[in-house]
Amino acid sequence: MARLRGKRAVVTGGAQGIGRGIAVGFAAEGADVAVLDVQSAEVGASVVQELEAFDVHGVYLRVNVADENEVTRAFDSLAQSLGPIDILVNNAGVVSEYEVAEMPVDEWDRIIAVNLRGPFLCARAVLPGMIARRDGRIINVASQLGQLGGETMAHYSASKAGVIGLTKALAREVSRHNILVNAIAPGPIETDMLASESDEWLARKRAQLPMRRFGAVNEVVPTAVFLASADATYYTGQTLGPNGGDVTL
Ligand SMILES: NC(=O)c1ccc[n+]([C@@H]2O[C@H](COP(=O)([O-])OP(=O)(O)OC[C@H]3O[C@@H](n4cnc5c(N)ncnc54)[C@H](O)[C@@H]3O)[C@@H](O)[C@H]2O)c1
Repeated sequence: MARLRGKRAVVTGGAQGIGRGIAVGFAAEGADVAVLDVQSAEVGASVVQELEAFDVHGVYLRVNVADENEVTRAFDSLAQSLGPIDILVNNAGVVSEYEVAEMPVDEWDRIIAVNLRGPFLCARAVLPGMIARRDGRIINVASQLGQLGGETMAHYSASKAGVIGLTKALAREVSRHNILVNAIAPGPIETDMLASESDEWLARKRAQLPMRRFGAVNEVVPTAVFLASADATYYTGQTLGPNGGDVTL
């Protein structure tokens, strides 16, 4: 399959977990892929190697998506090294557990900055080119906690509900330019992020899930490939949920 042949994609937070799965899934479909992440150049080199095994162009840039200058510089440099961006996946995200009554303001700000300001900054960077070319896909990785809310995760839940709101508003703003904006709101997926949750949270969460198991990265990747592909031309402003049945809105 080469459903994304000739496309150029950016995946934030693509050094590991869901983002890496999406980056590799896109490369497997023939897309050139740039990964933006805060991890080391060594990790970046392993990402590029994995991408280029599919005979596509892979790029790794060390970028904090919450930093306006770093994002601007990264997309300027990608315009030279990769060319016009067709697909942006805003996937970089962070989480922590605090009850609101005990949450430091800096922790609230950190989560909102990476999870919500980051997607805004990256979307803002790609939109002028996409509007000029009348073509683009933006896929925002939200979370089912943005739909359900999660105790000890008000900051994370608010950031992800914000991502869903950003998706809906931006879709209304730019779909007429043939730029389709959608979100993916996964349930709990086996990654380092999930492993960072407390045993108590994990046990409670697993028991709530209709399927009684967490999902795998490869159960999310096909949704991103679909939303990026020519099969998804009438989807915009939507939130798709690989969540094992936990959210059935
Ligand atoms: N794993 C889950 O259960 C789950 C469920 C729903 C949604 N999500 C969302 O999916 C996305 C990926 O999560 P994951 O489970 O793969 O997590 P992960 O922690 O395994 O990977 C996140 C990646 O984002 C990168 N990152 C963190 N801060 C960054 C920043 N400021 N700038 C650039 N990159 C940064 C990390 O270095 C890492 O490579 C996140 O947005 C997360 O909120 C995850």
